[in-house]
Amino acid sequence: MNGIKIVTIGGGSSYTPELVEGLIKRYDELPVRELWLVDIPEGEEKLNIVGDLAKRMVKKAGVPMEIHLTLDRREALRDADFVTTQLRVGLLDARVLDERIPLKYGVIGQETNGPGGLFKALRTIPVILDICRDMEELCPDAWLINFSNPAGMVTEAVLRYSNIKRAVGLCNVPIGMRMRIAKLLDVSPDRVHIDFAGLNHMVFGLNVYLDGEKITDRVIDLITSGEKSNFTVRNIKEVGWEPDFIKGLGILPCPYHRYYFQTQKMLEEQMAAAKEKGTRAEVVKKLEAELFELYKDPNLAVKPPQLEKRGGAYYSDAACNLIHSIYNDKRDIQPVNVRNNGAIAGIPDDSAVEVNCVITKEGPVPITVGELPVAVNGLVQQIKSFERVTCEAAVTGDYRTALVAMTIHPLVPSDTIAKQILDEMLEAHKPYLPQFFQEEQVS
Ligand code: G6P
Repeated sequence: MNGIKIVTIGGGSSYTPELVEGLIKRYDELPVRELWLVDIPEGEEKLNIVGDLAKRMVKKAGVPMEIHLTLDRREALRDADFVTTQLRVGLLDARVLDERIPLKYGVIGQETNGPGGLFKALRTIPVILDICRDMEELCPDAWLINFSNPAGMVTEAVLRYSNIKRAVGLCNVPIGMRMRIAKLLDVSPDRVHIDFAGLNHMVFGLNVYLDGEKITDRVIDLITSGEKSNFTVRNIKEVGWEPDFIKGLGILPCPYHRYYFQTQKMLEEQMAAAKEKGTRAEVVKKLEAELFELYKDPNLAVKPPQLEKRGGAYYSDAACNLIHSIYNDKRDIQPVNVRNNGAIAGIPDDSAVEVNCVITKEGPVPITVGELPVAVNGLVQQIKSFERVTCEAAVTGDYRTALVAMTIHPLVPSDTIAKQILDEMLEAHKPYLPQFFQEEQVS
């Protein structure tokens, strides 16, 4: 390859400076010739602000990386080597609805879990599948690296409903868990290794090692030592685990497991927050406005530290490490979302799982885990069923399939409440769900 071409769809995102910083840092081994930032007309202003900052960053760093800004996705995709997707259909206003509507019914309102996760999938999957069709035509050998949430379901849909084989889903939760543990142990992160297995936002650390020595019990003691351990991400409040529960489990939960194992506490916390300072999306809207004000400053030529207030910290490290390892055939181990291929027993081969993989130039090769511990296997299986039914609903636009998905989610208490939430959310998100309203449009 004569220099790499990367296309980032949703390029106007406030996270883009992280990605640019990560590419600059790795330029010697990952020579990116062109970075194309693509957005939709509604995102043009943001795209220009972020794009100008990216140009200043590259100039300051003195790397010959061209930054292109465009609203024309197809023009950008031609002959790309890597396509990253970080889009939010309906922008943050849609996330506010995903968070607020379920709360009215006493159900957790969250962008990737429960009813919110279902609707984010229904809005996002058709757009990603459209991108896949463009890729097939314009850059058939490119890698699709998706960070758009819900990342697990998006990967599942790409694997099942597109012809793209070179697809990987990425999340910052595993890298965030590793960084947090390194901090608690007061060691550098490269000395810590975790055996990750599960699904996106439903991943467990089965074992933790320091310099190759197993220290899982010691880490469990640390993360259950009260709220101070802060074993979480910015967008999820640490409410303290019941130490005997985690010790009994014997493996590390991820921050999102709080919604399943601490449902009542998390619901109360969400309801109080929604009243006092707004839901997470409402808080993020303010944060974003501040960030874009900073990005506009013509003297700013680095990623501002305020970006670290967002939940997606280390995304760029995860993304750049992955691209770097594919490009250089590094064969290191990274946790990503890929086709299971038998790695986790009981999950279909062609379903997406989040698991440690060896990263080669032919892509990630999942490391075999076998059966998950019996205490969590049932929940993981149930979420996988939810994900598969959700993907089917996203592709078909079938009302009953969507209702089944909503009802079988463990955070939704009954079919009747599921139907009420579904109906209200379908109406609220109507402009972004054409697949559910086709007949109406025809008549
Ligand atoms: C996390 C998740 C991401 C998510 C982000 C939300 O850590 O892993 O999937 O996008 O937080 O952060 P935000 O700042 O938007 O609430």
